[in-house]
Amino acid sequence: MTQTIFEKGAPGRRAFTCPPLDVPAVDGLLPEAFRRAQEPRLPEVSEPELVRHYVNLSKRNFDLDSGFYPLGSCTMKHNPRLHERVAALPGHSRLHPLQDPARAQGALELMWNLERALAEVAGLPHVSLQPSAGSHGELAGVLLTKALHADHGEARTKVLTPDTAHGTNPATVTMAGYELVKLGTNADGGVDIDDLRAKADETVACLMLTNPNTLGIFDHNIEEIAEIVHEVGATLYYDGANLNAVMGISRPGDMGFDIVHFNLHKSFTQPHGGGGPGSGPIAVAEHIEPYLPRPVIVQGADGTFDLDDHRPKSIGKLRGFQGNYGCFVRSYAYIRSLGAEGLKDASETAVLNANYLLARLRTLGALNKLPLAYGELCMHEFVLSGAPMKRDLQIRTLDLAKRLLDHGFHPPTVYFPLLVDEALLIEPTETETRETLDAFAEALAEILREAADDPSVARNAPYSTPVRRLDEAAAAKHPVIRQAF
Ligand SMILES: Cc1ncc(COP(=O)(O)O)c(C=O)c1O
Repeated sequence: MTQTIFEKGAPGRRAFTCPPLDVPAVDGLLPEAFRRAQEPRLPEVSEPELVRHYVNLSKRNFDLDSGFYPLGSCTMKHNPRLHERVAALPGHSRLHPLQDPARAQGALELMWNLERALAEVAGLPHVSLQPSAGSHGELAGVLLTKALHADHGEARTKVLTPDTAHGTNPATVTMAGYELVKLGTNADGGVDIDDLRAKADETVACLMLTNPNTLGIFDHNIEEIAEIVHEVGATLYYDGANLNAVMGISRPGDMGFDIVHFNLHKSFTQPHGGGGPGSGPIAVAEHIEPYLPRPVIVQGADGTFDLDDHRPKSIGKLRGFQGNYGCFVRSYAYIRSLGAEGLKDASETAVLNANYLLARLRTLGALNKLPLAYGELCMHEFVLSGAPMKRDLQIRTLDLAKRLLDHGFHPPTVYFPLLVDEALLIEPTETETRETLDAFAEALAEILREAADDPSVARNAPYSTPVRRLDEAAAAKHPVIRQAF
């Protein structure tokens, strides 16, 4: 059992020394009400103890820098190191969020240019960089819809999402105070148009969609869908989590979407997760612009930039300051280093890699036990069903996923989308080599062969990781996320 940093060290041990105080000490600056009764207990460790603790912890994790991470719907692509160098430049990293705009012109110009680039990718004219995640962008988009309808004296009550939708879509709908209405999926993996026609009426505020969807299928009926939604005065919202399949090739705005969110931490190489900052900018059509979060960046006639807070119809602020600036720098560096052609090439390669992997799995016979859930080809990701594998080999998708860890691969997304039995959602991204894709396909086929001989091997996997099989249901139902000291 690994000790926490609080359990290490000894009283008085330090990892740093402060320079002597060279200003007068002032007591009582902080009002009594804000002071703790007792000083907080902080770790007391030496620098080597501190460094070893965190380096060792990091080695117990599987990450994108140590191996292939085909986590479908998450676009775990390589984050170029160039972006880290640019984001670490003191002019970026030491900029204070309260800096007077007149003295932060370079930062505002970068954000302005990023807005223009994202507007071009979305095919919609206006962008707000404020939201801090894809789901936060979704909330912004649905609140914008609410503001638009309220401004026209309408109070609509429902939002539609397909049954392939990511869980954040229904969560957003509920959080924004709407009733959620599910749409069915047709035999091709797209929206069931008859179901949409039956449910679209003047009580509907919005339809939230992603295209390609989480089955890796591009919905060719998108123009008809947009027409049905717009006919009843609702907005069409694009969940941009799957933008990696279409950047520079087709634009949500041209498909008829009114509001789009981007996941800079998926398509635009801002690193994912780890509790760190994310970024989910939104792009909107002209008629939604007045409601954007405030302040907005404006450019004066003399070319200088400013922040405009006087936005009477705005939905207000979604967070402090302008958003996660470091994410903007990395994504802007990505867009500028690739250029328009490079972005298109990234998407084309992402689609090619996914189809190559699918073809390899087919050649190796793996699809006999793990058939493709919809279609013959895919976009940037594809969904297999582990139902025949479970029936014939007595191992579940979860067992296969755990056994992949022993082969040095992070498992794909499992049990999502919900409408596919024993789902396995695989997204290789454009940054992986052919050798890696081949090795992954071989590993998957090998696990199936092994299960035919002895299913208990996969059922008890993994064997090579710092922890073996965890009780994930208990962890989800009774999370211990804070330790009291
Ligand atoms: C399809 C889809 N939509 C929305 C989201 C939400 O994005 P975020 O995790 O940045 O909140 C995700 C990712 O988790 C996703 O895969």
